[in-house]
This record gives sequence, C-alpha cells and structure tokens, in this order.
Amino acid sequence: MGIYRRLLAFIGPYRWRLAMAILASQGYAVATALVSATLYLIVNGLQNKNEVVIDNIPHVPFLMNIHFPTWWIPFIIVGVFTLRSFFEYVSQYQMSSVGIRAIRKVRDDLYKHLIHLSSDFYSRGRTGDFLSRIMNDVGAIQGAITDVISDLTKQPFVIVYNIPMVFIFGGHYALIALAVFPLVIVPIVYLGRSLRRTTKKMQERSADITAFIGETLAGIHVVKAFNLEEEEIRRFEKINKAVFDFFKKTIRVTIIQRPLIEIMGALGAAGAIWFSIQHLSIDRFTAFVISLFVFYEPLKKLSKVYSTIQQSLASGARIFEILDSEPAIQNAPDAFQFHEEIRDIRFEHVSFSYETGKYVLRDVNLEVRHGEVVALVGISGSGKTTLANLLLRFYDPTEGSVRINGHDIRLITLHSLRDHIGIVSQDTVLFNGTVRENIAYGKVGATLDEIRVAAEAAYADGFIEGLPEGYHTPLGERGLKLSGGQRQRIAIARAMLKNPPILILDEATSHLDNESEREVQNALENAMQGRTAFVIAHRLSTIQRADRIVVLDQGKIIQQGTSDSLLREGGVYKRFYDLQFNL
Ligand SMILES: Nc1ncnc2c1ncn2[C@@H]1O[C@H](COP(=O)(O)OP(=O)(O)O)[C@@H](O)[C@H]1O
Ligand SMILES: [Mg+2]
Repeated sequence: MGIYRRLLAFIGPYRWRLAMAILASQGYAVATALVSATLYLIVNGLQNKNEVVIDNIPHVPFLMNIHFPTWWIPFIIVGVFTLRSFFEYVSQYQMSSVGIRAIRKVRDDLYKHLIHLSSDFYSRGRTGDFLSRIMNDVGAIQGAITDVISDLTKQPFVIVYNIPMVFIFGGHYALIALAVFPLVIVPIVYLGRSLRRTTKKMQERSADITAFIGETLAGIHVVKAFNLEEEEIRRFEKINKAVFDFFKKTIRVTIIQRPLIEIMGALGAAGAIWFSIQHLSIDRFTAFVISLFVFYEPLKKLSKVYSTIQQSLASGARIFEILDSEPAIQNAPDAFQFHEEIRDIRFEHVSFSYETGKYVLRDVNLEVRHGEVVALVGISGSGKTTLANLLLRFYDPTEGSVRINGHDIRLITLHSLRDHIGIVSQDTVLFNGTVRENIAYGKVGATLDEIRVAAEAAYADGFIEGLPEGYHTPLGERGLKLSGGQRQRIAIARAMLKNPPILILDEATSHLDNESEREVQNALENAMQGRTAFVIAHRLSTIQRADRIVVLDQGKIIQQGTSDSLLREGGVYKRFYDLQFNL
C-alpha cells in the first residue's frame, strides 16, 4: 500500500476539489436511493388512481399516513433524476480535473527527475523503457487516480444510502438479499492479486515495444540497407504477441468479475423475492426489487476499483523506481560557482571503471595549461571519450581527481562547470527545430546576429543561406536533412556561440569526406582560437597542429609530446603516423 499512498500524495494539493466531489457524491447517492422510492410512488398511484396513499410501511412510523395527489409524481420523477444527474456531473467533473492535474504533475516530476539523472543511469537502462514509463505507466495510473477515487468516494455511499430503502420496502426479507454481500468480496480479492502480477509483466513487455520501435526507427537506414524489414517485422510481432498474451490474461481476469457479481447478486435477490413475493404489497414489492438492483452498479464498480488499484500499483512501482533513483553525479553540498579564468586543468592519478573492477582509465596524470591544444590519440576503446566525460563530470573518477585551477571539479557546481566547456562530438545531436534554434541551443536568448557570427566562424553561414528558408529552415528530427559535414558545422557554431574557455572535440571530423573535412577543419581551427582544447581525432592533419599529443593505450598514457618528438621516440604514435601516410 506504500505505493498507493505515494500516488495519493499527488492528489494532496487538490483536496478542496476532492472535498467538493465527495460532497456532490452524497447528493448523487441520496438521489440514487430515491429511485426505488419513486417506483413505489408510481405503483402506489397506479393502484389508488387520484391519490398516493402511504399507509403500508408500518415499521417506519413517520412514513405512515401520507397523502398527496397523483399529479405530483411526474414532478418527483423529474426532480429525482435531475438532482442525480446534477450531482453526478459535479462530482465527476471535480474528480476528473483532480485526476488530470495529478497526472500532469507526475509526468512533470518524472521528466524533471529523468533529465537530472546522470549518465550511469542512462547507460544501465533503455530509452524506450523510460519513454514507456512516462507515457504508458503514467497513463495507466491516470485511470487509477480518476476512476478509483471517484468510485471510492461515490459508490460506497450509494450502497450505504440504499440500505435503508431495502429495509423500508423489503422489511426483514432484506436480510436474505444482503447475506450474499460478503461472498462477493472473496473472488474480487483473489482475482485482484493475480491481476497485479500480470499487469506488471504486461507493462514491462509494453516497454519493450516502445524501445523496439524507437531503436528500429532511429536505425531505419540500416534496416533498409540490410533488407531487414521482414526480419524486423517478425521480431516486432513476437514482442507484440507477448504483450497480447498478458493483455488477454488481464482481460480474462477483469471481465469475469462482473458476471460473478451478477450471479451472486441474482442468487441473493432470487432468495429475497422467493420469500417476499407472497407477503408484500405490489408497490412495496416493486420498490424492493428495484432497490436490490440498485446495489449491482456500485458493487461492480467497486470490484473494478480493486482491480484498477492492483493494476496501477504495478505501474506506480515502475514510476517510483525512477523517482527514487538518485543521480550519481550531484552538486556537493558546499559546491561553489566557478567564475575564474582558466589557468590549468589537471588529471591527477585518475583511474576509472564503468563496471567495478574493469578499469578503463588507469592512473592518468595530465596537466593542460590555458590556451593549450591537446590531442588525445589512441585506438578505439583506449579511453579517450571517457577522459573527456570525466572533465564534463558525466562520471566521477573512481580514484584520483580532475582539477581546474587546483579546484577538484566535484566541488564546483555542475552548472558553472559545464558552462565553461563546449563539446563537438562524433554524433552530432540536432533537435527537431530550425537551424537558428539548433545553433541557439548554445546560448539561451541569442540574437540572430550573434547566431550568424557564430555560423560564419563555423563556416556554416554559406550553406545555411542556401537552404530554402535560410536560418529558419526546419531541420526535422535529428537534422536528417543535412549532410554529415553540415551537421558537424552547425554543432561547431553551437559551441562557438556558447563561447566556452574549454573545448572538447571528440572525433568531430571522423566521418567526413575530404571536401567537407577541409571546411570543418577550418571551422575547428577558428573554434580552438584562444581556448583550451582537447582534440580527439583520427586524422593526423588535426593532430599535428596540436601543441601536445597524448597517446592513450588501454586507459594509460604511454606517450606524450609534440608530433616531432613522438616520431623520433618511435612506438605507438609512429606506427599510427606511418599507417595514415602510407595508406
Ligand atoms: N557507458 C559505458 N559503460 C560501460 N563501458 C563503457 C561505457 N562507455 C565506454 N565503455 C568502455 O570503456 C572503454 C573506453 O571507451 P571510450 O572511452 O569510449 O574509448 P574511445 O573513446 O577511446 O574509443 C571501452 O572498452 C568501452 O567499451
Ligand atoms: Mg570515443
């Protein structure tokens, strides 16, 4: 129940609306109970013609000897049903608005939480799974919050207020009908439990679907180029079938409840009618039967509430799993805003492992002075990107420290640290928006002039002006309308607009043709002017211009120096150099 209490906490702020809904439910329940009384009046009027004469309910003294003309009946009917609808509308409206507000808050909180979580969390899970939790699971608890609360605050009153009616019209025969009540509870509770398990599995499988679709759409070109459409369809159908199977199970469990309740109810009603049919007057008998049927609806709704609760607990658990995970990378309690000029960046005895025991960096010592351009060289998997990730504090070193001007970067606020660093990486991430918006990502509120200056420096202005709508051309999802080199230059413009003192270029030129490489190369030269830069590159042309070359191998620095000195030294760098020039 802990999960449900936490879900309810989201409703807390709307307790006044909730109170109003509960109040309106009282009206609804009373009006519902009056339906059988109305029937009594109708049948009574039918027998007495001009007058309604209430004189056959001896066990309720205040209902004895009431007379009024028959023409009141239509007004009573309209009155009862109007009140019932009005109160139902009010309570439903208030409840639904509480529900959608609460859901919005859950989704906001989830997103806020997700976006603050650090890289280690994202490398453990799948994006599609997170998507599914935000959309499917939150959607599932929306039903829980709205329906459950609206039914829980309404249906019990309908039952309670209807009980006197059953006794008023049925007298002691009412006891026979009510005897079956407890029997109804047993299957509801039993079925509810199994429902919770099945739902949990179903939501997990639904997450598989979202993840799968996300992945195949992101790699749609690969799918097509390898002629894997049929294969992907087959895999999709398999995952979809798994969801279907669990769906089938939950449906079987949920829909069996209504007939069960109906049969039990019918048994109770049949018993009560059997014994009362020869003893009650026709008006009382009619009202009695109707009042018994009034119980059906709330009972069915309440049984559904139970199963909805069980289902939403499964989803709730998946939501709280995210809300409960703490970002591994956070501001230290006494973190300070870093505003100094950069003097030096030092990696001191830095070791790092993504998974315990498997070191990716080992005892790395590196000092970079302001304005220096350092090239990181090494085969793929040697730890270059990881080194850059540590500077950005995507991860913290397992041992040792990264220092800027002598400050351990763990003591600098994340925001001010990352404000000082620009990054252009191999996979240029462009968002669904215009060219302008994508460059402006580097600086919130940048003017078009500033953006243009950055684009010029990034050698991007030329091709941007050639686009159909210039800077206002929409790029589409992931910027697929542009070539690799163009995307890269937009990313560089973005970094230059941010104008950070530290720049990380992670294989920014790796998959470009010679033509665009020259342009990107020029753009990068511009970008590195006056900054401290870490350049991770395959191309010697980029590397040779660096002030210093650092050669990484299996997470260790094995060589360091200028291109010339490293060539004289021989070793890994020389092999790398020869390989590139002798191709
Ligand atoms: N998120 C991660 N989780 C676990 N291992 C990782 C992760 N990212 C990279 N690695 C591993 O760390 C090593 C270094 O990777 P990386 O720094 O990306 O190398 P490089 O950039 O030099 O190609 C590789 O063995 C890689 O498999
Ligand atoms: Mg890398």
